[in-house]
Formats: sequence, structure tokens, C-alpha cells
Amino acid sequence: MSGILFLKTKNLGPLKDFYTGQLDCEIWQDQGDCVIFRHGNFLFGFCERDEIEDKAMLTFFYESKAEVDEMCGKLKEISVSGPVNNEKYNIYQFFARDPDGRTVECQYFNDPVSCYLSGDELLLTRRSVRKFTDQQVPRELLNKIIDICRYVPSSRNTQGYFYRIIDDREALMWLSRTRESSTAPFAKAPMAVAICADPKITGRAEQDACIAAYHFILTAWCFGLGTCWIGGMDRDDIKDRLGIPQTHYLATITPLGYPADRNLKAPKRKPAADFLKE
Ligand SMILES: Cc1cc2nc3c(=O)[nH]c(=O)nc-3n(C[C@H](O)[C@H](O)[C@H](O)COP(=O)(O)O)c2cc1C
Repeated sequence: MSGILFLKTKNLGPLKDFYTGQLDCEIWQDQGDCVIFRHGNFLFGFCERDEIEDKAMLTFFYESKAEVDEMCGKLKEISVSGPVNNEKYNIYQFFARDPDGRTVECQYFNDPVSCYLSGDELLLTRRSVRKFTDQQVPRELLNKIIDICRYVPSSRNTQGYFYRIIDDREALMWLSRTRESSTAPFAKAPMAVAICADPKITGRAEQDACIAAYHFILTAWCFGLGTCWIGGMDRDDIKDRLGIPQTHYLATITPLGYPADRNLKAPKRKPAADFLKE
């Protein structure tokens, strides 16, 4: 489900150039005298009519202050104020004007915000996070993520996977030392989550646990949290230390917290053609 905000303009041409060229929007639907733009999850459109609706303000928000600064540099000719902290709303913002004179705002939320990513953004921007802020993960948020993880596909819908929360500092530090650089991210996380499956419930514990782990990773990212699939682990020792039965399959343990940097650059990927075998 989504929605679109439509505004009237007298001339679509300059708006098309501005919103695609300067604000990096894509044209989501071109209906001739109405054009709908997309910026992440934000859909807005302009329709060519005999009047201009210029009272609305269009706000574009970014993942970091650095991106707001970059946008301010890009729009310097038309910006009407430099980026500043707005204490009332705890945001970092600047204003500019589009070709119709409409106010355009670019901002960053200093506080974490709830899920807003579009599907493709979620899949493309997720990164392995190894450094976290000190901020604790609210229990309600964790509950919300687990609630969504009830919809993980599982073998014959047996739902034999489970999430084990580790928020004891001593256990996190112990985990961080188990495999040097591979497990080091646990030391910098406020908590961790072990994702397992019980082979008494599912005949495909390994597959179920791995899918449940990745579903958790994506859901966490959607709500602004960072994770990292830790593969280099001594599973038997870890299960003993955490009291997980040896018979259960442990897919991974991921650190969990608010990323120190949510704008991590993606490690280089191979071209799409390399992943298609005819
Ligand atoms: C099976 C598997 C094992 C991994 N093991 C580790 C690990 O032990 N330690 C770590 O820091 N990252 C680990 N990673 C994260 C990868 O390094 C990371 O996914 C990869 O570099 C691509 O980066 P991205 O996730 O940011 O796109 C693992 C990822 C997978 C899928």
C-alpha cells in the first residue's frame, strides 16, 4: 500500500529536469499531462493545469548529515538557507526552491526513525554492520521485528526456528573473543541474537534457521538496526556457553544495534551476468 501527493503546475518540463537531475528522483509513471516521481518510498506527482500550486513543501530525507551537505552543495544556486540543526524537531536541514518556487527541504533525522525503506532500497542498502552506537534497542522494537519474523517461510510450515537474545555484556565480550576479527563486532554491540532451529520440530533445521536469520537481518535493517552474519564460530562451544541444546542447529549469531554509520559503502559486487548460468 502506498499513496501519491499530486500538485498542479503550468509547465512540467522544468520540474521533470529538476526532480530527476537535481533531486535524483526517478519517473515512476509518465501519464502525459501528469508525471509521478519516486524518491525511495516518496511518490509525488505534478499535473499540467492552468495554475501553479506552490504552497506545499516537499521534504526529502537522507541517511546522513554528509548527504544533506552534499545536496546543499549541489543545490547551492537555489538554496535559501545553509544546512542547520533544527533543535525543535531534532533534524539537520536546509531549504531550496523548485522551478515553480515551491519549497524543497532536504533533511536528516538526528534520532532513529521507524521503517520507511522501499523494498528495493531495503535490499540494496542493507550492509553488514560491525560498529554500533551505545543506544540500546527498545524491547518493543525487538518484539515488532520478531512479530514480523513469524512470516518466515519454513519447511512444511513447521516453524521450528527461534531467536535467542544475548544482552549480557559478559557473554557478548566472551563471544567477541572466540574468533578474533571474525567475532570482534560483538564487543561493540549492545546485544546479539542467535538464530537456531530445533530438528525435533523441523526436518530441515539448517535451511529453516538460515532463512529465519536472513529474514531477521532484513527486518532489523528496515527498522534502522544493523546486523552482521557471523559465520566464523565454534558452534559447539557457543551452544554450551549460551545453554542452547547441542542437537539444535545454530545458523549464526548476529550483533544487533544502531549502526555507527548507516551509510556504509557496499563492497564491490560482480556484474549481474556473472550470476546467471544458462
Ligand atoms: C555465510 C556468511 C558468513 C559471514 N561471516 C562473517 C564473519 O564471520 N565476520 C564478519 O565480520 N562478517 C561476516 N560475514 C559478512 C560478509 O563479510 C559480508 O556479507 C560481505 O562482505 C558483503 O558485505 P555486505 O553484507 O555489507 O553487503 C559473513 C556473511 C555470510 C553470508
